[in-house]
Amino acid sequence: MDIQRVDLFAKQIIKEAGKKIRDSFSYDLRVETKSNANDLVTNIDRETEIFFIEKIKSKFPDHRILGEEGMGEKVTSLEGVVWIIDPIDGTMNFVKQHRHFMITIGVFIDGVGKLGYIFDVMREDLFYAIEGVGAWYNDSPLRKLQPLKIEEAVIGINANWITPNGKINHEKLIELVRTVRGTRSYGSAAMEIAFVVTGKLDAYISMHLAPWDIGGGTVIAKEVGAIATNLEGKYFDFLSTDTFIIANPYIHQLLLDQYIEELK
Ligand code: IPD
Ligand code: CA
Ligand code: CA
Repeated sequence: MDIQRVDLFAKQIIKEAGKKIRDSFSYDLRVETKSNANDLVTNIDRETEIFFIEKIKSKFPDHRILGEEGMGEKVTSLEGVVWIIDPIDGTMNFVKQHRHFMITIGVFIDGVGKLGYIFDVMREDLFYAIEGVGAWYNDSPLRKLQPLKIEEAVIGINANWITPNGKINHEKLIELVRTVRGTRSYGSAAMEIAFVVTGKLDAYISMHLAPWDIGGGTVIAKEVGAIATNLEGKYFDFLSTDTFIIANPYIHQLLLDQYIEELK
């Protein structure tokens, strides 16, 4: 695969899709719920995914597409070239705030992330990476993440997990909240990953993410030295949902060892 050619093409269609989404605010948005009342999808999520599928298939007919809205083929293996796409990450922000939502795409070859993109649609900011070459924020190269102490860290986490729940020991998370410099919750996994790779956050923890939430972000993470795993510290399986942590490499293991205890 000609990586440079695919990279240029990916950037072009991401920017085109971004413009279509911005323009969509001037006409009707149809909002529906999916797995629960807080899991939203709109006609624009679906139309954007179809836009990507049509563009990619017309240029690269043998590439396969794993999209959140399932508008393409069923993907059950990561053999060959697979585009992992979330057409809008942060749909609740899209609907309610008209900002803080991302297009995010990872291009994988035989299960290895080669290209990664996170595009802040309203700011028109692009975070991207080419595996083994580097990562950029718009035209500026991203540097490797720097050492830091846990007391200096700002962590992305949803407040739900700091309350009693059946999935993670909230007492340990309370201790984490007391230890770190601050916590944030932005409502878009891709945005929180973009913040970790640029040092605006030092970690982001989630109990439940899908491949399309993190596919692009993990490629960028590798280039800046951020560590992305599930909460057992193992490789995230890109064909299923899992827990997720991405962190500055100087605090990733400490977070797992001292502050994260999954309740089975
Ligand atoms: C969601 C967002 C949210 C995360 C959810 C995701 P969506 O993606 O990334 O921040 O907490 O788990 O499903 O549904 O807006 O694409
Ligand atoms: Ca998502
Ligand atoms: Ca989505």
